[in-house]
Amino acid sequence: MDSPPQRGILAYFVDNHSPLYIYPMNGYLITPTPNTQTNVMKLFLDTAEVKDIEDRIHTGLISGITTNPTLIKKSGRDPWKVYTDIIELGVEDLSIEVMGESSSDLISNGMNVNQNYGNVATVKLPCTIEGLKACKHLTNIGIRVNMTLVFSVSQALLCGLAGATYVSPFIGRMDDNSLDGIKLINDISNIYASNQVNTQVLAASVRDVQSVGVAFGVGADICTIPPKVFDNMANHALTDVGLEQFNRDFLA
Ligand code: E4P
Repeated sequence: MDSPPQRGILAYFVDNHSPLYIYPMNGYLITPTPNTQTNVMKLFLDTAEVKDIEDRIHTGLISGITTNPTLIKKSGRDPWKVYTDIIELGVEDLSIEVMGESSSDLISNGMNVNQNYGNVATVKLPCTIEGLKACKHLTNIGIRVNMTLVFSVSQALLCGLAGATYVSPFIGRMDDNSLDGIKLINDISNIYASNQVNTQVLAASVRDVQSVGVAFGVGADICTIPPKVFDNMANHALTDVGLEQFNRDFLA
């Protein structure tokens, strides 16, 4: 086993050989597992604005895109044209939300998305019993599923059991309702880690830069963020001030 980062606390042995270390981070406890140790953190953009993606995808820092019906409506465009345009930009993982009352509606709409866009498409399903049934089915036939609108550990447990590729807890909407979105990310990450669930925790409904760092810190595998938050991640007033000074001194 790799040696743990410093300041980890040796808690107990998970079997006769492997020590389990707990890392304090902003008051939350992180339990590393092979999953969290090997998965590199990823950023997705949460938008259906093709131009916003086009302007940022070339940074090489964005690993995927998430959309939802509200973002599509905001774009004012035909959803299928939006998805095609996004894929033409070279995006490798695009979450496309499908709607339907029953699991069979969701399955056939998910399969339709997969037939149209192939492996780039991740089918986004609501975290309901019908959505979970559809998730299990689509996962079994090799289609990636992103379970969306997740607000509790119990929902995330079911998403893990259904074999979802991603589980999307909506941290901003939780915070809007005086619930602790970051604690939910932490709880899900720890439970997945200790039960060796492969579902990746995709922090969604992220509204500000600070939440990105904290979400990764407590175990998120991926954060999906609006383009503006992505831009703001690179900005710092002290960087601007320092750079101005360096430019002046360079030219002096
Ligand atoms: C995630 O997949 C959703 O599209 C998104 O993050 C929702 O964010 P909102 O709560 O800001 O609408």
